[in-house]
Amino acid sequence: MILVTGGTGFLGSHLLYRLVSAGHMVKAMKRKNSGTYLTEKIFSYYTKNVPALLERIEWVEGDLLDIYSLLDAFEGVDYLYHTAAVVSLDTGDDRLLLETNVQGTANVVQAALERNVRKMCYASTIGALGYEEDHKLIDEETPWDTSTKKSVYSVSKYEAEREVWRGMAEGLQAVIVNPGVILGPGDWNHGSPRLFFTVYNGLKFYPRGTNGFVGVDDVVTAIIRLMESDVTEERFTVVAENLSYRQLFDWIAEAMNVPAPKYKLGKWLGEIGWRVAEAAALLTGKQPVINRDAVRSSDRFYAYSSKKLLETIDIEMMPVKKSVKITAKLFLEDMGK
Ligand SMILES: NC(=O)c1ccc[n+]([C@@H]2O[C@H](COP(=O)([O-])OP(=O)(O)OC[C@H]3O[C@@H](n4cnc5c(N)ncnc54)[C@H](OP(=O)(O)O)[C@@H]3O)[C@@H](O)[C@H]2O)c1
Repeated sequence: MILVTGGTGFLGSHLLYRLVSAGHMVKAMKRKNSGTYLTEKIFSYYTKNVPALLERIEWVEGDLLDIYSLLDAFEGVDYLYHTAAVVSLDTGDDRLLLETNVQGTANVVQAALERNVRKMCYASTIGALGYEEDHKLIDEETPWDTSTKKSVYSVSKYEAEREVWRGMAEGLQAVIVNPGVILGPGDWNHGSPRLFFTVYNGLKFYPRGTNGFVGVDDVVTAIIRLMESDVTEERFTVVAENLSYRQLFDWIAEAMNVPAPKYKLGKWLGEIGWRVAEAAALLTGKQPVINRDAVRSSDRFYAYSSKKLLETIDIEMMPVKKSVKITAKLFLEDMGK
């Protein structure tokens, strides 16, 4: 039996679709009060026959912070895809990030060991890789560097990976993937799909930095192929292309036929901007429009190599411009355009 944690989220839903459409019966874990609306929505991007495929999912209740619920959920599970996490760059979420991502993953590893899960795949992030100066390519071997200012989200994912490595030392078969920013249809108000909404809404500034990007289908292919292979005790960068934010935003704007952000967000303007936004948020009680970790990480020049992945599994990654076009078309349809 296969189990997916985070099945109500963006990546987890795309993964669930691929697994059930390949004929698998799958258990998907969700918290008691979470809805499955996004999963249904994401399935509808692929098929008209959503109900028939949803029938192949058995929803089981579980919370990363409740190890007993994980022990119950993992009963009879052979293959475990762990995608659940708090994904946020909001400074107000610091505590939740560390608790859920680090302690939650420690609990997942512990329950997987106790339930004799045969293999686990952990969805980490490029943020949990090291940093190279001077535009050098970052890969699985780049050392983690505590001197560079990492977001709390990145630190939480790095620490979570250490929990997975601990599990491997105790006999768990596992593989870790480190995807770049994932592009694809999802909740347009949350996580990486929100980039499309932000550009559509008339974003004026683009950050100076570069990052690694990848389409959601490629991430799903990578994790399923790695899970189905003999590969274990390895981590893999999953990035289709390294791009400037300016290029990415230009492509998104072009695909949606809206103006692209025109002004470069310089370092100092960004530093002032997040402080003003956080002060305004304190007064209004709303989420800040930009925040420290998002501003700082998008001001950096990151570039990644997926050589190891390409040499290990059979995968041809989609050019980012094509992923952008496909996603933008679905976004516009959802907006009634
Ligand atoms: N999106 C990206 O660009 C990107 C890039 C690289 C790596 N990743 C990684 O990919 C994974 C999935 O990201 P995503 O973008 O799909 O995030 P997402 O849409 O926010 O989904 C997160 C999932 O985690 C679940 N979750 C959160 N706290 C939980 C808890 N305490 N117990 C059980 N489930 C909990 C959420 O369930 P609820 O419905 O109950 O909230 C949701 O299903 C994450 O590990 C993330 O670090 C994402």
